[in-house]
Amino acid sequence: MKVIILDNAQEIGKAAGQLFVDAVKENPEIVLGLATGATPIPTYEYMYKAYEKGEVSFKNVRTYNLDEYVDLPKEDKNSYYTFMHEQLFNHTDIKEENVHFLNGNAEDVDAECLRYDEELRNAGIDIQLLGIGRNGHIGFNEPSEAFTKTSFKVQLTDSTIEANSKYFDENPMPHYALTMGVGSIMTAKQVVLIATGKEKAEAMAAMINGDVTPQCPASILHFHPNAVIFMDKDAASLL
Ligand code: PGA
Repeated sequence: MKVIILDNAQEIGKAAGQLFVDAVKENPEIVLGLATGATPIPTYEYMYKAYEKGEVSFKNVRTYNLDEYVDLPKEDKNSYYTFMHEQLFNHTDIKEENVHFLNGNAEDVDAECLRYDEELRNAGIDIQLLGIGRNGHIGFNEPSEAFTKTSFKVQLTDSTIEANSKYFDENPMPHYALTMGVGSIMTAKQVVLIATGKEKAEAMAAMINGDVTPQCPASILHFHPNAVIFMDKDAASLL
């Protein structure tokens, strides 16, 4: 695991963004696994600014997002579908048919998870971007007794609900989500995890210095052959 500590969130955005821009330039048909949340916003901004400057094209890039809320309309401002379009896709030349999400409104969520896993297996993710929850979650894989394998419907923990409910004013925050499993995340050729801010310091200390345990799902990245961890000084403050 390669750990890179930089000054602040902007620096992380630049460094992680440049990693993605370089990867897309090298392989214009790359398959990217993408994450939502506040942390990747500067990374996405860096990526679409590189597109706006004509440095890179996303025309043939395919993306798979990690997770989506259950029973939240796709068009809701808090859906991850909306988030990704507002923070990245709408500012680039990526094709709508090339962006993929778990459908949290599917009638049969188990069938939906199987469908997504099949697509993931066929596509093969080249680089997976991850944030990390205050409780060490990746995607919506919350601390649990065992590492999860494939996509599934998860009940969100109080820690996650508390962290994300600030975004929900009209509709209450859903308590369930669909997420890629830890096993699927681990199949990506490269994993890039980004963490910024003091509220991530405990999770980063547990992930970097603690045991590899499903109680801290991100700790599994110790076993990934090509994982890069970017964090700012605040997130690194308890290492
Ligand atoms: P955040 O979420 O970037 O909004 O802190 C990260 C995560 O929960 O994975």
